[in-house]
Amino acid sequence: MGVRVAWIGLGNMGGGMARNLINKGNLGSPLVLYNRTISRADALCNEVGHTKATVVASIVEAVERADLIFTSLSNDDALKDAMEQALQIDVAGKKFVDCSTVHPDVANNVAARVANNGADFVAMPAIDFVKPYITGVIGRRAIEFRDEPVGKAQILKLIANMFILSVNEIVAEGMTFAEKASVDPNKLLELLSVLFGGPYTVYGARMVGGDYHKKEVPVEIALKDARHALHIAEDVGCAIPSLDAAAKNLEAVKDQRGPTADSSSVYGLSRTRNGLSLEN
Ligand SMILES: NC(=O)c1ccc[n+]([C@@H]2O[C@H](COP(=O)([O-])OP(=O)(O)OC[C@H]3O[C@@H](n4cnc5c(N)ncnc54)[C@H](OP(=O)(O)O)[C@@H]3O)[C@@H](O)[C@H]2O)c1
Repeated sequence: MGVRVAWIGLGNMGGGMARNLINKGNLGSPLVLYNRTISRADALCNEVGHTKATVVASIVEAVERADLIFTSLSNDDALKDAMEQALQIDVAGKKFVDCSTVHPDVANNVAARVANNGADFVAMPAIDFVKPYITGVIGRRAIEFRDEPVGKAQILKLIANMFILSVNEIVAEGMTFAEKASVDPNKLLELLSVLFGGPYTVYGARMVGGDYHKKEVPVEIALKDARHALHIAEDVGCAIPSLDAAAKNLEAVKDQRGPTADSSSVYGLSRTRNGLSLEN
C-alpha cells in the first residue's frame, strides 16, 4: 500500500500544495484531507475525484489514517492546537511535516513533544507554491537543515518573508510615485519585470491591475510573520528598520481595511497618503 499521506489545513497555501501532491506525488492511496471548515476539503475532494482523495472529520482521524501528515495552518496557536489533538493517539513511527510559518520556538517545542511520542517533526515552511513529495511536487526546491533545530528553518523563512514584505512596500511606493509623477504605472511594472521579476512582478501586477483588495495574503498573516521576525531580530540584537517600517504600514492597512485585507493593500494606503483615491 505504501506510505499513507494526510493533509491538514486546506487554505490558500495548503489547498494548492495538497492539490500538487495529489496530481504529481504518485501517492499509493488517496490523500486524506482534513480542514476545520469541512466544505473546503469536500470541494478539493470533489475536484480531484474520490479515488485520489478522501475527507475525514477530525484531526485524530487524519493522523490515524496516515504515516506522513502535512500541516498548513494559519499561525502558532492553530499549529499548537492541531498537534495537541494529533498527539492524543499513538503516533509512534509517524512523520509530521509542517508547512505553516510559526515562531521558531513553537516549532522547536512541537518537535520535542512529537519526538517524545516516538514520531518525527519536520518544519517545512513554504515560501511559494512550492524528495519524493517535495521537489517538483509541492515545491521547486528544498533547502535543508540537517541535524539542526527545526526552528532554524522557520528563521530562514521569516527572513525570506522580510524580503517579500519589503518588496511589497517598495513596489507600492514606486507605483504611487510613478502615478504622482505622471509616469504610467504599467511602464514601471514592465521595467520591474525586466529588472527583477518574481515578487516585484506579482505584487506590481496585483497593484496595477486593481486586485490589491482581493484576499491573497491576509494582512493579519503578514503581520504575524513581521512580528515574529522583529522579535527574533530584537532577541539576537539585530536592527532591521526596513521591516519595522513595512510592519507599521501593515498595521495601518489593518486599521484602514480590516485583518483580512490583502497585504498588497499597502498600495491603497500609499495612494491615500499621497492624495490619490484608495482604489486605482
Ligand atoms: N498565503 C501565502 O502566500 C503564504 C505563503 C507562504 C506561507 N504561508 C503560511 O502558510 C500558512 C497558511 O497560510 P494560508 O495563506 O494558507 O492561510 P489561510 O488561507 O488563512 O488558511 C489557514 C488554514 O488554517 C486553518 N486554521 C486556522 N485556524 C485553525 C485552527 N484553530 N484549527 C484548525 N485549523 C485552523 C484554516 O481552516 P479554515 O478553512 O477552517 O479557516 C485554513 O485551512 C500560514 O502559516 C502562512 O503564514 C502563507
